[in-house]
Amino acid sequence: MSYEFAWLDYRKGVAFRAADLFKKIALTGFDDATAADKDILFSAELELKRASRDICGQEAVFVRDEAVSDGINIVFDKSLGLPEGAYGIEIDGTRITVKASSACGILYGVFRALALIRTGRISEKQITEVPTSPIRMLDHWDNPDGSIERGYSGKSFFFRNDHLYVDDRTREYARLVASVGINAVAINNVNVNDIATGLVSGYDRKELAMIAKIFGDYGIKLFISLNFASPMSLGATDTADPLDEGVAQWWKKTTDDLYKDIPRLGGFLVKADSEGRPGPFSYGRTHADGANMLARALAPHNGLLIWRCFVYNCQQDWRDHTMDRARACYDNFIGLDGQFDDNVILQIKNGPMDFQVREPVSPLFGGLKKTNMMVEFQIAQEYTGQQRDICYLIPMFKQVLDFKTYNGEGEGILCDLVTGKGLSRACGMVAVSNTGDDPNWTGHDLAAANLYGFGRLAFDPTLSSEEIADEWSRLTFGYDDTVAEGVSKMLMMSWPAYEKYTSPLGIGWMISPGHHYGPDIEGYEFSPWGTYHRSDRNGLGVERGKTGTCMIDQYNEPIRSIYEGLDTCPDELVLFFHRLPYDHVLKSGKTVIEHIYDSHFEGVLDVEEMIGIWESLKDRIDELRYKRVADRLQGQLRNAKEWRDRINTYYYRHSGVPDKQGRMIY
Ligand code: GCU
Repeated sequence: MSYEFAWLDYRKGVAFRAADLFKKIALTGFDDATAADKDILFSAELELKRASRDICGQEAVFVRDEAVSDGINIVFDKSLGLPEGAYGIEIDGTRITVKASSACGILYGVFRALALIRTGRISEKQITEVPTSPIRMLDHWDNPDGSIERGYSGKSFFFRNDHLYVDDRTREYARLVASVGINAVAINNVNVNDIATGLVSGYDRKELAMIAKIFGDYGIKLFISLNFASPMSLGATDTADPLDEGVAQWWKKTTDDLYKDIPRLGGFLVKADSEGRPGPFSYGRTHADGANMLARALAPHNGLLIWRCFVYNCQQDWRDHTMDRARACYDNFIGLDGQFDDNVILQIKNGPMDFQVREPVSPLFGGLKKTNMMVEFQIAQEYTGQQRDICYLIPMFKQVLDFKTYNGEGEGILCDLVTGKGLSRACGMVAVSNTGDDPNWTGHDLAAANLYGFGRLAFDPTLSSEEIADEWSRLTFGYDDTVAEGVSKMLMMSWPAYEKYTSPLGIGWMISPGHHYGPDIEGYEFSPWGTYHRSDRNGLGVERGKTGTCMIDQYNEPIRSIYEGLDTCPDELVLFFHRLPYDHVLKSGKTVIEHIYDSHFEGVLDVEEMIGIWESLKDRIDELRYKRVADRLQGQLRNAKEWRDRINTYYYRHSGVPDKQGRMIY
């Protein structure tokens, strides 16, 4: 499948003084670099070449180790002492200087300088940017047969017909994600099937090494998702018990062999004892036993073991009101704090359930005090419109990162905990990727803002959602204020709109079972997945406070009291934490039922407004992309109306309360 260049299409966008700048490019310190650094520096050089050709239609003229007064200076100098990945950019008239002490810093600095040129943000200035998160990662849920679990933009570009596949697109992908600072990528699904099990022990090793090399050229470390029971599944042992000597030896040898071929492998990612995946529970062992055994195989190679905390009972009985899936992540891991080796990182989903449009922050972040943590987001829009509906998730991620956990270390802001300012040493941010082999990479053109935005935010969480939206729009659609304003407005409206027309007030779910697009209010109501709203004629919600499952007690004070109190619990989460009658008055002054009706009518109006904005940009956007987005917006409108009418009708029938404004409810 052919591909486009997304926000790296240098033919789009006006560049001020660009021709002057590209007259001469001086590379300093490149020749003294180590072999691995040289590969990354070469990528930076290629980027400048490409930019010169595509922005000003001229071949770049490079000079080595001499400063130029008019043009671009790239200075690789370890003695500057800038941290890994950091860079300085100085803009002075017709001269731009990019400096860094690491090869990645040069690469990121070059991408950034080019973005500044293209967005016209090159007024005289000096900037130094240091990546905030040590690990800035994408997890692909790609399967060897080419399918993608929760993939909404075509097939995998890593796998095809049960094999790894390497072509131009592999490099183009690395370039795209490195341009926003991504430095770690797991290429295979966390649900590891039979063929993928072999990746660790030799299957398609040549291709795996090729991918790792291409990634390495862009400063990205390759990670492999593991099947915890690999030695057993591959017939080498008759157990996968992490405390069995033979099992540990198998992992050690397998890992040593892997590093011989792929010396810069990042490590392993593991989903264990979750949704049917094997894990240490089968042997009466803990997650720490399982993770540490693997971590010890990786430690001699400086590899990292990333262990997911998405662990819960998916065989629940809907009749049983004492069990609460929202408790599971915390309950499973809190007792293990301090028991994990230094090179283990716990990867914790942002919320306690599963990437819903609105959830509270997982209480585990504020609970763990002696364990490395990463936050896991999902830019694949599994529950948020599947890249058919627009849902710009950066504002949601920012709220999560700003959350105060009060973990005993001051306010314990989540962003600090996952970026190394807390106790974690190995830490960072990860997102389940939203890419596939569609020409535009992300299915919906506007979904690329989530890919771009996640990388930018992991690098610099102080950026605002608006800044990221504006920058992405200008880089994608070209230098046009009207387009940037319109597109940014659509993006900024989109998460609130999606929340309004889907499940109300933090209760979540109500999506169609299995594929998770569109409404099915009782689709999961009598299922074993632990996802209930328990609506009846009196009200709705699961009580998670003192009179219910006590999940609220997993939070530290003062959050616990804030969520417990009906007068203090934020409206948007009130049905996550409490069971309420329809006539309960929210902090907004509306009753629950009024809120349900109003927000659903508003959500559809918001989509109509987004359509209006897009239509107003018709003559400013190329036809192909205009039409692609316009078509999806019509689908989003149909979806929003379906949600509105089903939810409103369902709750009208249950509550018997008519809409005060007499709007159409069926
Ligand atoms: C969700 C998703 C699954 C996925 C799981 C996970 O439940 O629906 O497809 O495997 O999350 O994060 O492991």
